[in-house]
Amino acid sequence: RMSGPCGVVMFGITGDLARKKLLPAIYDLANRGLLHPSFALTGFARRDWGRETFIDFVEEQIREHSRTPFDQATFDHLAEGMRFVEGSFDDPAAYEKLADVVHELDETFGTGGNHAFYLSIPPNWFGPVSENLAKCGLVDDSAPEGTSREGAWRRVVIEKPFGHDLASAKELNETLLKVFPESSIFRIDHYLGKETVQNILAMRFANSVWEPLWNAHYVDHVQITMAETIGIGSRAGYYDGIGAARDVIQNHLLQLLALTAMEEPTSFSAAHLHAEKEKVLSAVTLPTDLAEHTARGRYAAGRQAGKIVTGYTDEEGVPEDSTTETFAAIRLDINTRRWAGAPFYLRTGKRLGKRVTEIALVFKHNAHMPFDNNDIQEQGQNSLVIRVQPDEGVSIRFGSKVPGTAMQIRDVSMDFDYGEAFTENSPEAYERLILDVLRGDPPLFPRQSEVELSWKILDPVLEFWAKQGPPEDYRPGLWGPDSAHLMLANDGRTWRIP
Ligand code: BG6
Repeated sequence: RMSGPCGVVMFGITGDLARKKLLPAIYDLANRGLLHPSFALTGFARRDWGRETFIDFVEEQIREHSRTPFDQATFDHLAEGMRFVEGSFDDPAAYEKLADVVHELDETFGTGGNHAFYLSIPPNWFGPVSENLAKCGLVDDSAPEGTSREGAWRRVVIEKPFGHDLASAKELNETLLKVFPESSIFRIDHYLGKETVQNILAMRFANSVWEPLWNAHYVDHVQITMAETIGIGSRAGYYDGIGAARDVIQNHLLQLLALTAMEEPTSFSAAHLHAEKEKVLSAVTLPTDLAEHTARGRYAAGRQAGKIVTGYTDEEGVPEDSTTETFAAIRLDINTRRWAGAPFYLRTGKRLGKRVTEIALVFKHNAHMPFDNNDIQEQGQNSLVIRVQPDEGVSIRFGSKVPGTAMQIRDVSMDFDYGEAFTENSPEAYERLILDVLRGDPPLFPRQSEVELSWKILDPVLEFWAKQGPPEDYRPGLWGPDSAHLMLANDGRTWRIP
């Protein structure tokens, strides 16, 4: 379904995210015929650019980063709806100019008073920008009665981090709520826009085979891994002081946990989905001994895939006395009938052995097996692995007879591969999410209560780590610090090597 007529006003247009993800996603949507012909894009930035420079800038990003091939006609049409406003985020006069541009678009380009303000900017700007939008009338004038714009909408889109702990997340939200009602706030967690993440729900609730096994009677534990091979690149300004747990566990990994662990929602409506996610997040508890059940590390200098890489503290912009972690792992327990007794282990890190995000349900061992020990060449635990990325798919690992005259057992896997099973190509997470914003579909956007529940889970860990000094170094290209392995060994378990 295509969007209706509308516009996006983008703040932070020259940032990494806008250049690599947001602008290309908008173009890909246009290319797939999912944007209304009256779709407008306005850039707001502190650059002395004219409209032409802005259009050239957008074209450059699209040519470099879009998924779909460059099509001149699509781009030319998109460019007709492009505008640029020069100004700084705290300059009221610039917002007056912006208001003029928005009204001009409504009158000449048919955007009908429908506008989304996309704040791809540091969170300390969310407050000032939304207040300025309100002051120049851009938030309330969407639907003056008796005009052709009656019923039009205004929405605000924000990117994480939504605060750095529970208290600041609440504060941030209050600032936004002064200007926008909760129903107009769209919080992006781009993992929720990924096909494979949505498939967790499809897999669990469209089938009958998994459900009997999807609980602590059969599942020994669950491992959720988000591993990256990249370092922090040029993002020290954002990353240092934030670290892996705030950057990724608070949002992406806890959302994956929620989707994996929650009960079946009555429907996939936002209200039903959020209610189930909130229920399961509020049942999550931390182990009492955090030293034993958490781990954190930071990548040292070394070699990765044959290349020499810089250690975290030598990265440009990272202070020498930084205590920021680039690897984090925690054990969580879920106090529900379904999960009590089967812990969830979450880990994430940069400069690890492989780029992979996966959810692995690791099953209990058989109580009895009618084989001799030397019949068993390999017998790991049965597992069901949902590979979120790359090589999207699902695998089941189980023991099987080795061909031959003897009864010997070895592990094999049964694989479902997206690329092979479907010819349809999957949209980028941001395509789906931006389209949902424009269509006003809220299910894939976390509500504030989920954000707060996630901070509530993480806050004690962060406070504990803050008292511990710098994190443990780990060698790039491996699977994190020793403490991460110890943490599972303490429970008699081991991490999977994806
Ligand atoms: C972002 C984090 O949310 O997700 C980054 O801020 C991380 O640090 C990125 O690299 C990973 O996203 P993806 O989609 O490549 O797994």
